[in-house]
Amino acid sequence: MVTTDKIILNDWHAVARVSDCQPGTLKQVRLLEENLLLWRSDSLQDSIQVWQDRCPHRSARLSLGNVSDKNLVCLYHGWEFDQAGKCVRIPAHPTQQPPISACVKVYHCHESWGLVWVCLGEPDQDIPPFPEWDQPSYHKVFFGPYYFRSSGFRVVENAFDVPHFAFVHDGSLGTRSNPVIEDYEVTVNAEGVTLSNIHIWQPDTDGIGTTGKVTYFHKICRPLTLYTIKEFAKGRETGLYTISPISEEESMAWGVAAFNYEPEMLEAEFQAFQDKLYCEDAPMVESQHPARLPLLPRNNTEGTMLPETHVPSDRGSVAYRRWLRELGITFGVC
Ligand code: FES
Ligand SMILES: [Fe+2]
Repeated sequence: MVTTDKIILNDWHAVARVSDCQPGTLKQVRLLEENLLLWRSDSLQDSIQVWQDRCPHRSARLSLGNVSDKNLVCLYHGWEFDQAGKCVRIPAHPTQQPPISACVKVYHCHESWGLVWVCLGEPDQDIPPFPEWDQPSYHKVFFGPYYFRSSGFRVVENAFDVPHFAFVHDGSLGTRSNPVIEDYEVTVNAEGVTLSNIHIWQPDTDGIGTTGKVTYFHKICRPLTLYTIKEFAKGRETGLYTISPISEEESMAWGVAAFNYEPEMLEAEFQAFQDKLYCEDAPMVESQHPARLPLLPRNNTEGTMLPETHVPSDRGSVAYRRWLRELGITFGVC
């Protein structure tokens, strides 16, 4: 069942790369406990369609069917649907006008930053911004998608959590010999939660052994989307990391990175580095219990027993959990 959480329902969620939706192809995805069908007609001029993956005739999965020119054909009894989801042909009754109820549920879909974004409700905002995408001087690379058996909010929190670098990513993003986290700044406003001036030293900042000081800036611009700037001697690496909630306790993470320097590594090597970080992160995130993120009230009174313990280096998480509570998020949290 699709959630009643209006914030999550009306937000945009990435479900595929545009390059995976070639003309004439169909793709199954799952978002907010809804089975979806992504398909594109035989023409690249036509936009990607996102439908409920259910035929209005006998509820078979439409993704088992095929694309026929501009229409989609259900495999079970051959009913044919146009791009508005309306049935236009019933082979068993070729002269009969298809009933009005023979219509597939069609969802909002948008292509941005090389990703396919879907909204299952009524979108009340634009797609999360990624300013470097349109700058030719930036090299763009995709990474993921990464599956987590956990709430998307746990996955976002892990993405901006710096104290785990020294342990989970010992030897790359951090080192056990230097686990101290200096103070960093956190601000919360109408645009989201911002963590800035996070300074750390990394033994391998980029996957090819570049050692040095790094400064992170994170902006949580949507409940499940994080924009990051990482600055080090070579230049600037920016990224959009967005988590699509499959269910309250399952999620898929999508990443797009943009560098303002000539990468010395191939795209496949960068992706392999990100894959390694994911393999280190996933066991930690999936071990967190409960899988749903425990939110915090705006002010917790001194001495109030909280389900998890917070220290100064967790100030970003604390702000995020309070912000989610203020927004009224109910999906995937506790
Ligand atoms: S179930 Fe789709 S045509 Fe019958
Ligand atoms: Fe990590």
